[in-house]
Amino acid sequence: MTPEAKNSASDDMQIHVVKQAYYEPEYVGLEYRKLWPRVWQMACREEELQEVGDHVTYDIGNESIIVVRSSPDTINAFHNVCRHRGRRLVDGSGSMASFPCKFHGWRWSLDGQNEHVTQIEDWCGTLDDQDLSLPSIRVETWAGFVFVNFDADAETLLDYLGEAAETLDPFRLDTMRYRWRKWLKMPCNWKVALEAFNEGYHVAITHFQLNRFGASKFASRTAGKHGTFYADTSDTLSNSMKGSHTKKSPPPGADVAATMAGFTDYLKSAIDSNGSDSIRYAAQVLPTLVTSEMSPAEVSGKMMEIAAGIDEKRGVPWPSITMEQYQKAGTDWHIFPNMVLLPMASNCLGYRARPFENDPDSCIFEVYQLERMPESEVPTTENLRNDDIYDEDFWGEILLQDFQQMEGTHKGNKSSSYARPQLNPRQETTLNHFHRVYHEYLND
Ligand code: FES
Ligand SMILES: [Fe+2]
Repeated sequence: MTPEAKNSASDDMQIHVVKQAYYEPEYVGLEYRKLWPRVWQMACREEELQEVGDHVTYDIGNESIIVVRSSPDTINAFHNVCRHRGRRLVDGSGSMASFPCKFHGWRWSLDGQNEHVTQIEDWCGTLDDQDLSLPSIRVETWAGFVFVNFDADAETLLDYLGEAAETLDPFRLDTMRYRWRKWLKMPCNWKVALEAFNEGYHVAITHFQLNRFGASKFASRTAGKHGTFYADTSDTLSNSMKGSHTKKSPPPGADVAATMAGFTDYLKSAIDSNGSDSIRYAAQVLPTLVTSEMSPAEVSGKMMEIAAGIDEKRGVPWPSITMEQYQKAGTDWHIFPNMVLLPMASNCLGYRARPFENDPDSCIFEVYQLERMPESEVPTTENLRNDDIYDEDFWGEILLQDFQQMEGTHKGNKSSSYARPQLNPRQETTLNHFHRVYHEYLND
């Protein structure tokens, strides 16, 4: 057991989950009053705001926010509400020179100042400039993500992220771009959806087909408000993919290389993530370049070296990431409250979950792939919606398997026979910690 896992397992055996939080409407209200107004929430990526006037709307409960590039160096966030009679000003995302209201034509500049009131003479000078401006909320950026916070007194984003930011910074997610984005309205509470990606305990069973590439066990630990899990054994493929050391006697290098080639191929077809074209290409040529004496870590290191070389030639060199930094980053990070990141040197898989309006039984769930690619190859991505959780062609085998757990878990939570979860103290620390921090917000 690593020191971190030991600490996290023994620190806190109390279960912090209150099952009613998954489905009672009062918790939706509590979250909207006590949680969402006070946390840093990822609203969009900076790449969506390249030109002045580019904007994205971010909705959470009754609140809608316009995140906009107001000038080449300034991103602002405003409440997306007309100051006349409250109409939403903009929908979705796009680019505008100003924000006109469709109802009676009032208009705001990109920095939230009112530019026009239709037939202003009828107010006889009674309109107050302050009441006319769009109220702003805090906006800060990290790793190419734009975060907003409704709380003017909240700690800075970097203080809030703490160790999560320090650990993920070497991966330079800011220099990656969206490869694809997908979302759906999921028939479960947002916390149930999030928690399908907040532990690795389910992997060997829910994703049983991954066992053929090397069985994985995971350990988890907390980091400030956040949590992370990582491969627990030193000889799993997921660990060797990150280039870690192994203490066990290595299987023949050629076999490891063939397994890696099969694994990267499978990931391409089953989720189109957790890898990039450069890594897949490297994995395919790997079996011809390794010897049977090489350890899994050496085979993995060779694959990463080839992939990094390919990307360097494409003009997107990888940042230098030390072995310790890879190991510390592990597999998966949960950023409180509703963001999950699985970072790799050339790509990052991301998830975001949030409530759907006032319904505790459904949520908006989003998945995206970030990838390191030359600016000339960055695709124009749309956030594609597909509510069919059985559409394997669209979602791929791995997400389909995750989705199949969610509605059943959500419904099972409501059973009178079930009082609370029994969490694996080693592998599900992240989940328990999430509920501890969640209730701290709700009770504060
Ligand atoms: S509601 Fe917007 S101008 Fe009237
Ligand atoms: Fe999963």
